[in-house]
Amino acid sequence: MEKLKVASFFAGIGGIDLGFENTKHFKTVYANEFDPYPAEIFDSNFITKIDLKDIHNVSPTDLPDINCIIGGFPCTSFSIAGYQKGFEDERTGDLFFELARLIKAKRPEIIFLENVKNLVSHDNGKTFKIILDCLESMGYHIKYQVLNAAQYGNVPHGRERIYIVGFLDIEAYYHFEFPKPITLTKQLSDLIDFEKKQPAQYYYTKEKCTFYDTLKKQITKQHTIYQWRRKYVRENKSNLCPTLTANMGTGGHNVPLILTPYGIRKLTPRESFNLQGFPLSFILPTTISDGRLYKCAGNSVVVSVIQRIAENIFQANKFSKSK
Ligand SMILES: C[S@@+](CC[C@H](N)C(=O)[O-])C[C@H]1O[C@@H](n2cnc3c(N)ncnc32)[C@H](O)[C@@H]1O
Repeated sequence: MEKLKVASFFAGIGGIDLGFENTKHFKTVYANEFDPYPAEIFDSNFITKIDLKDIHNVSPTDLPDINCIIGGFPCTSFSIAGYQKGFEDERTGDLFFELARLIKAKRPEIIFLENVKNLVSHDNGKTFKIILDCLESMGYHIKYQVLNAAQYGNVPHGRERIYIVGFLDIEAYYHFEFPKPITLTKQLSDLIDFEKKQPAQYYYTKEKCTFYDTLKKQITKQHTIYQWRRKYVRENKSNLCPTLTANMGTGGHNVPLILTPYGIRKLTPRESFNLQGFPLSFILPTTISDGRLYKCAGNSVVVSVIQRIAENIFQANKFSKSK
């Protein structure tokens, strides 16, 4: 059967695309992203290549025929870690409306958006209401839910995100439901090699690190993830990796830390991708620096959560009257 055609915006390294394509029901036929580094990673892993331009310069005529638009629009203005200016933020505030412009022009039968959990409560719910009103005014029937990857994606990564699903067809909308929680069977040790010796650059030493003595005193358990929080060490007590963030790329700050037989080290970029549910076959080009790989991993999504939602979208869409 022919796959449903997807246009992807703010595609980054393609975590949402991968989740959709993993279902075998969807295929990305167009992808837009303006940062050349994630674009290079995307291009190394997908047949469709990135249209490398600012979304402001994307015309609906640049897009082929599609069934679905997906996008995790930039969240810096909505996240607790960001400035919380929302639509007021001239850097990123209008990007949702740029996406809406293309949705309006193409009217795909399905839309799928992803963002930080805080989007719902931002500006006392006003921001989210504007987003919902905008999508509904274009004829979409919307369901949304905040899901934590540790409960819905079988990945030991505490990552809560809001997922917004819209259908033009009311029957598809009625039949769609978000996936149910599943048992977490994967452990940190399935995704992080605590025993293997990694290259020296991943280890903290007294020579390299001014707060090494504090790390040594407080990082005492193996198979646990720690984070350096400017002045103190935070231990994750629930056997999960705390939410990976984009700013862990900048100077290695916030990259989770572990105790190993060879010393205290940060996670490798590959381990960060593992915690986002990317397969080992996902290519991380050697031309991209570790700092950029961390940033791309932190900016991305948990692929297995997306895949479960995408499967339910496909099943619900079979009920669409326009089929
Ligand atoms: C939250 S990340 C999305 C990551 C993606 N879901 C993934 O799996 O990698 C947002 C992305 O939007 C891109 N972006 C931000 N502003 C943009 C613009 N004006 N035009 C095109 N892309 C933009 C950023 O470079 C970033 O990669």
